[in-house]
Amino acid sequence: MEFSSDVNLQTLNTFGLACRARWFAAPTTLEQLQDLLKSAIFKQAARFLILGGGSNVLFLKDFDGCVITPHLYGLRLLESPGDEWLVEVGAGENWHSMVCTLMEQNLPGLENLALIPGTVGAAPVQNIGAYGLEIQERFAWLDALEIQTGKMCRFDLEACEFGYRSSVFKGVAAGRFIIMSVTLALPKTWKAVSHYADVDNALRQQGLSASPQNIFEIVVAARRSKLPDPRLMGNAGSFFKNPVMTQLQADALKTDYPSLPSYQQADGTVKLPAAWLIEQCGFKGVRRGAAGVHDRQALVLVNYGGATGEQLLSLAKEIQTEVHSRFGLMLEPELLIV
Ligand code: FAD
Ligand code: EPU
Repeated sequence: MEFSSDVNLQTLNTFGLACRARWFAAPTTLEQLQDLLKSAIFKQAARFLILGGGSNVLFLKDFDGCVITPHLYGLRLLESPGDEWLVEVGAGENWHSMVCTLMEQNLPGLENLALIPGTVGAAPVQNIGAYGLEIQERFAWLDALEIQTGKMCRFDLEACEFGYRSSVFKGVAAGRFIIMSVTLALPKTWKAVSHYADVDNALRQQGLSASPQNIFEIVVAARRSKLPDPRLMGNAGSFFKNPVMTQLQADALKTDYPSLPSYQQADGTVKLPAAWLIEQCGFKGVRRGAAGVHDRQALVLVNYGGATGEQLLSLAKEIQTEVHSRFGLMLEPELLIV
């Protein structure tokens, strides 16, 4: 297995940014991956990037290094003596296709996370979450290859240090491991997660029972109505994280902005919708050339066609500055800026 040179990444990032990788490879086995890591090209490269589906990255320019996309597939039900079904999934599997396959095999539990773009291997990196559920709640362990030593390591729930849109793979382990497979833990006794307002309201309004299939369909419909389809309009989902703060800080903001929505977290902190802050600053639907803010979801920056990473970043900085001067909060990007 060898690296290919000067590869176009435009179809490999959901912003659809025209950029190229100096070197690129998509290994399908552990052995191929180990060969690549031992190659002279990899050892001499200035930098490297593990790329999944490219749905959470913003390329600012061509990548002068090695890009590796693990094409590792497979889905296996492991012996599951406890209360959960253990399912080992290859890092290269498409997340949403896997959710659908498991639903079809009567293994529900991931319906709230339906339609999230990208690969299974990337899902733990930012502890993907939506509609009241995060992957950490359906996680058993993951197996990863340590780049420097070429050794396989297992990370359990604790070792992953999951938080809101974060994990050890965005912290001290960033750039050190290639996630090869993720083992999910799906409850044998399924219980609906329906507290997210969009899910709860849809179930009530449509008079539906809280079944896995109904929640799946509600989540898919909600996402289709709000989020742009990257195949039609380049984007990477939420550009920023929602700010999290103490109750005291949130109360102070609510005194000045009584209509500010806020969401109480289990640990006593409060999450504020960044989309609301951005919309209040008048950015919803704005365009700066080919870069813009989506007109149905103010947290999503879009490429109308031909935008550069720098143009999107410049719009993001304009938003950060305005939100900071108005609300005193610095929005933090959610995605990886390369
Ligand atoms: P990439 O974008 O390719 O990579 C993301 C990060 O993971 C990078 O740091 C990369 O180096 C690292 N990485 C990727 N694969 C591996 C691996 N095998 N080993 C080690 N590191 C790796 N996210 C949510 O949490 N919730 C949502 O609801 C949501 N909705 C979205 C909607 C849209 C329309 C889009 C475009 C994005 C959305 N996202 C959402 C963001 C994105 O889907 C997730 O972050 C997803 O997990 C990224 O997967 P990916 O394979 O595309 O990763
Ligand atoms: N809102 C606005 N204006 C908008 C959109 C939303 O004011 O244009 C306000 C509304 O008050 C709304 C609230 O923001 O009730 C929350 O909006 P939404 O339910 O769309 O969720 P979000 O906070 O904007 C988060 C995640 C999404 C995830 C959804 C659903 C983050 C950074 N984003 O968005 O994840 O799909 O909740 O759970 O936490 C992603 O990470 O890429 C992503 C899309």
